[in-house]
Amino acid sequence: MMRPTWNSDRRRTAIGRMALSVPARQALADRQLTVDRTVLDYGCGRGDDVKVLERLGCQVQGWDPYYRSDAEVEVSDVVLLTYVLNVIEDPVERGQTLARAWELTSTLLVVSARLTWEQAKVRGQEFGDGLLTSRQTFQHLYAASELREYVEQVTGARVVAAAPGVVYAFRDEAARLSYLAQRVIPDADWLASEDTASAVSAVVDFFERRGRAPRIEEMPRTVAELLAQLRPGEVKRLVREGADPKRADAAAKQSTLNTLLYLAVELFNGRGPFGNLPVGLQQDVRTFFSSYKEACQRADRLLFKLRDDGYVRNAMNASVAGKVTPTALYVHRRALDRIPTVLRLYEHCASIAAGRPEQWTMAKLKHQGRAVSWLDYPDFNEDPHPRIKSSYMVDLQTLQASHLSYESSANRPLLHRKHEFLAPDDPDVPRYRRLTESEMRAGLYERPHLIGTENGWEAELVRCGRQLRGHRLVRRADA
Ligand SMILES: C[S@@+](CC[C@H](N)C(=O)[O-])C[C@H]1O[C@@H](n2cnc3c(N)ncnc32)[C@H](O)[C@@H]1O
Repeated sequence: MMRPTWNSDRRRTAIGRMALSVPARQALADRQLTVDRTVLDYGCGRGDDVKVLERLGCQVQGWDPYYRSDAEVEVSDVVLLTYVLNVIEDPVERGQTLARAWELTSTLLVVSARLTWEQAKVRGQEFGDGLLTSRQTFQHLYAASELREYVEQVTGARVVAAAPGVVYAFRDEAARLSYLAQRVIPDADWLASEDTASAVSAVVDFFERRGRAPRIEEMPRTVAELLAQLRPGEVKRLVREGADPKRADAAAKQSTLNTLLYLAVELFNGRGPFGNLPVGLQQDVRTFFSSYKEACQRADRLLFKLRDDGYVRNAMNASVAGKVTPTALYVHRRALDRIPTVLRLYEHCASIAAGRPEQWTMAKLKHQGRAVSWLDYPDFNEDPHPRIKSSYMVDLQTLQASHLSYESSANRPLLHRKHEFLAPDDPDVPRYRRLTESEMRAGLYERPHLIGTENGWEAELVRCGRQLRGHRLVRRADA
């Protein structure tokens, strides 16, 4: 293919930002932009992210060929390459820019690009492998899997999609494994402790949540310092006496499953040596398995089970949380960690491949083929029949991702029987169930083919002489 010779006006691609960019916000939320790490914003444009990160206490520098070309560029812990690749019209220079950003990275490179689903927003003539807009700027929009594969190919690193259009390439394996652990099994907060008694209570609480005692390296410094005043045997005895054995047993079972889930996710993204695992996971493996090898073998089998339709289907039918339809399991975000481990793995694999969107309420896991959608119902809690705002779907077989927005739709799909998407012990379930029962008594579910969208549902409410007042069904004033 002939390379285009024209140079686009790249300077014009840098817009002034009112708030932190999506990728920087994501990296912040993922605890990758900590105050002890140095950060380089490579291709920082007008430098608005640099300013905000500086205010947040980060040691950050920005460099841009047009706006800050004389700034110093040094190897940094975290390098941000934010919406730069998509504006470079020359594919060779694009690859060189990514390679240069990687050279400057010692721990993590965060690469973001605009995605193909924004196609409708970018108008222009075809040019090379992208579009030339009326402002003389170039845009190559990426498919979600294309961005991840491209970064993998140029850096040679294992890449994780942090969000749609945002990928992380780790140079430091321990940092990658620790990030995966944080995603799969987020750390619970430690109870506050001011004296030895409260420090012991904090350890008891950990023991009841994790099913094992913490190692000293896992404790917050204050707890470790307070407990250092006691003899180790004494701490063990106090914890054993203070903990509820039933809760600790249940937690040990859950931790075993969480460890398997983690190791299977790790296998999907690339397994590392035991010594690179975060300390807490090393300890989980030692406590709940006979060896790392045994744990890995069981995790490998779990990942393998994901390919088995019958197994996945049975797991969906056996799930205590979520609703199984003829095509998929739908589960609310609040209940996601209550579904069987193989299904949690299913959702994690999709999110690592294409990124979970920032806003979502419900996950939909298909049982024929392998595809996960994250559906956004922003008013799920307040609206008795929440309306969908958007959906982001990733097909695990083709790794294609697609996005659908319902914002301009006049007749959006909506949900019924909300309690079915939650775990049975969710505090909102009784209220939602009462509403469903009164809707059934009023005859509102007699014509199921009509009620799936706003207009049909409204017409059925009128036909049955009912209206909704919050989560209560009442007679219509005009009936
Ligand atoms: C869409 S702007 C993004 C700016 C900034 N990162 C942000 O998100 O606000 C693209 C930026 O890429 C910069 N850029 C273009 N070619 C580059 C290259 N080869 N190396 C580094 N930056 C480049 C441009 O100067 C421009 O500031």
